[in-house]
Amino acid sequence: MSNQKYFAARAALIAAALGAFSIGLPSAAAEKPSQKAQANAAEFARGARLWAENCNRCHNMRDPKDYRDEQWRPVIAHMRVRAGLSGDQAHAILRFLQESN
Ligand code: HEC
Repeated sequence: MSNQKYFAARAALIAAALGAFSIGLPSAAAEKPSQKAQANAAEFARGARLWAENCNRCHNMRDPKDYRDEQWRPVIAHMRVRAGLSGDQAHAILRFLQESN
């Protein structure tokens, strides 16, 4: 499997797992996830999707594990300009990368 396909598949799996997580919790064990937790999960899934859609257009997908949290910040600031992403999109991708490394 090519790197790009591998990462796209992994991003899809993460997004699917998150979906399952947010609807699959037994209601007795946990109250409905807080609005904040739901917003975080949605932001993470959005970041994963935007990463899969945008970050392999010009070069191979970079693994989230390639950089530490504080290293991803300047990389995304740089790639945001290259990729023509909005601040909001870049932020979602940054969150996804920092939570997946
Ligand atoms: C429009 C083309 C383009 C897109 C889209 C793009 N990159 Fe890049 N990327 C480059 C180029 C060109 C380089 C080589 C460094 C340079 O000349 O800027 C690079 C370099 C990098 C590097 C090496 C470190 C660095 O900052 O130079 C990383 C990591 C990286 N890109 C990650 C990403 C991520 C994550 C995304 C998605 C948000 C992304 N790239 C989207 C063109 C792109």
